[in-house]
Amino acid sequence: SLQLIDPRFRCSVAGLSPNMTTNSMKINTSGKSFIKIADDDKGYHLDQFCIPKHYEEDLERVLIPEGLIYDRTERLARDIVEAFGTEPIVVLCVLKGGYKFFTDLVDKIKVINRNSGRSIPMAVDFIRLKSYMKPESESYYQNESSTGKIEVIGGDNLDSLTGKNVLIVEDIIDTGRTMKQLLELMAAVHPKSVKVASLLLKRTPLSVGYIPDYIGFEVPNLFLVGYALDYNEFFRDLSHICVINSNGKEKYSIKD
Ligand code: HPA
Ligand code: MG
Repeated sequence: SLQLIDPRFRCSVAGLSPNMTTNSMKINTSGKSFIKIADDDKGYHLDQFCIPKHYEEDLERVLIPEGLIYDRTERLARDIVEAFGTEPIVVLCVLKGGYKFFTDLVDKIKVINRNSGRSIPMAVDFIRLKSYMKPESESYYQNESSTGKIEVIGGDNLDSLTGKNVLIVEDIIDTGRTMKQLLELMAAVHPKSVKVASLLLKRTPLSVGYIPDYIGFEVPNLFLVGYALDYNEFFRDLSHICVINSNGKEKYSIKD
């Protein structure tokens, strides 16, 4: 009976990802579309994909394979081009975690630009933020999310964005504090418009309620790594978005 099949393998049996039901497409109250990864979505067994040997012991499962990220990004690129029309944009990458989504999204926009009747002139820019951890941080695991103030520590001065249409590209909105503060810093330099594209939006009770304009996937409240998302700088060299396990957390924790 189907019930005896480990849910992690259901996908290979049915030829479908377990989250590919009509339920997985969600339009939230602000009319933004995303793929919802449910809390009980077991994702995929590590053995079903290629994982670097050095991380095999440190991961629970694959949650979003890189190919699916790529396909979702293609659609976000189309939505962005349709929304911006022919207005020039500055695509602003938030380093380091945003670099994979940023390059893949820019590449998809470039494909549309050279193959369709309409195209948007694009400039690229990069910033790096540092957030300061408060001692009373609510982060649920050691070293993970930070809740303190942010500071721009790299890239051009935000002043160069005055009067521009800016598309901020982030890897993940977790509590939303970092993005809220970045948007405040942005507002101070008076861009013409600001939109935010985030590959992931986490369902967390610690959310300040911020919802980005373009969302790839809404994900459970788990610590995710891979596709440039890190845990203390490790796992950026992992292709798929995976759930870290307790062994990985212990192995790569900051010990002082
Ligand atoms: N993974 C990596 N970085 C993060 C996360 C996460 O789940 N949440 C906030 N920053
Ligand atoms: Mg990080």
